[in-house]
Amino acid sequence: MRTISWDEDCDCIEMVDQTKLPGEFTTYHAETVDELIESIQMLRVRGAPALGAAGAYGVALATRQHQLKQAESLLTAVKADAQRIASARPTAVNLERGVSEAFDEAQLGMTVGEVRETALSAAEDLADRDVERNKQIGDAGAKLLGDQDTVMTHCNAGALATVDWGTALGVVYSAREAGKEIDVVVNETRPLNQGSRISTVELMERDVPTTLIPDNASGLLMQEGEVDAVVVGADRVVLDGGDQFGDQGVVYNKVGTYKQAVLADRHDIPFVVAAPTSTVDANTSADRVTIEERDPVELREIYGSQNAPADVPVRNPAFDATPMELVDYLVTEDGAFEPPIELTDVVENRSRH
Ligand code: MRU
Repeated sequence: MRTISWDEDCDCIEMVDQTKLPGEFTTYHAETVDELIESIQMLRVRGAPALGAAGAYGVALATRQHQLKQAESLLTAVKADAQRIASARPTAVNLERGVSEAFDEAQLGMTVGEVRETALSAAEDLADRDVERNKQIGDAGAKLLGDQDTVMTHCNAGALATVDWGTALGVVYSAREAGKEIDVVVNETRPLNQGSRISTVELMERDVPTTLIPDNASGLLMQEGEVDAVVVGADRVVLDGGDQFGDQGVVYNKVGTYKQAVLADRHDIPFVVAAPTSTVDANTSADRVTIEERDPVELREIYGSQNAPADVPVRNPAFDATPMELVDYLVTEDGAFEPPIELTDVVENRSRH
C-alpha cells in the first residue's frame, strides 16, 4: 500500500495516519486543503518525498474545491491554496517542489476540466516517479553494504516517509533483496520518536532484524563496533554552504543527524545519505534554509503527560545541518556519489527525461 495516494471514491487524498503508529495502522482522508495542511503540520504525512507527493496531490485537491467556471479564475484560486500548502512546513524542499510541479502542469489546462485533469495526472506521475527513484536509490546504496552488516538509521526514511519503498530504509530493503543479511539499529529519534514509532514498525513488518536504542546510546554502539554503516535520508541538500559552511554542501535532516555523522566520523564508520535528486536544492544556499522550530509542547509533554515545567523556555528545532565533509556517500537515483560532489551529478531532472 502507498503511504499517500488519490482516492477516486472521495476525490480526495488518502494517507496513512502516521500519528496513530505504532498502535493503529489506519488511513486518513484529507477532503479539503485545510485538512491537508493540518495533516502536514501535525505529521500525519511526513518525510520529504511523501511531502512532495502531498504537495502535488494538494494542488489536485485545490482544483476540485473551487466551483468556478473559468480555468483562469480557478487557477487564481488554486494558486493561493498552492502557496499555503507549500509553506505548511519550511525545511523539506520536496513539498514546495511537488506543489510547483503540479501547479505548473495545471496551468496548461484551458478548461476547468483540463486544469483538474492535468493537476491530478502530474501528482500521480510524481508519486510513480518517487517509487521508481527509491528503488534505484536502494539498488545503488545496497552495493555499499556488505553481507551481515548492521546499519544504524535515524528518524524514518523508509516506505512511510516516501510514497513507497523508502530511501535510507530502501537501501536496506534492496540489500536484503540482493541476498545480504542486514540488521538495523534504530535510533528512537526524540522528541516525536519517528524511529521507535515508525521505522521499527515497517522494518519488523518486512522481517528485518531490528534493535531499537535510545538516541543517546548511538555513540556507545559505534564505540563497541556494533555499527557498520549509518544510513539516513534528507529533507534538503544544498550544494552551497553559504557563510557558515563555505563551498561545501550541507544535508538537512531530522535533528540529531549531525551528531550521528560526527560520531560516525570519529569511529570511521561510513556515513551515507540516501535521497532523490528532488531533495537536492541547487538554487538555495545554506544561508536561506529555514530549520523548522516546532511547538514547545512536544518537549514539555510526553504523550499528554507533563515532562517539564509548563513554562520552561524551549528550543525545538526539527532538523539540523550536516556539512558534506562528514558525508561519505550521497546516494541518489543516479548512483552513489562521494564528496566533493559536482552540481551536474545530483540536480533533479538529470534522469527524468
Ligand atoms: O519531521 P519529519 O518526520 O518529516 O522528518 C523526516 C526526516 O527527517 C526524514 O529523515 C527525511 O524527510 C527523509 S525521508 C525519506
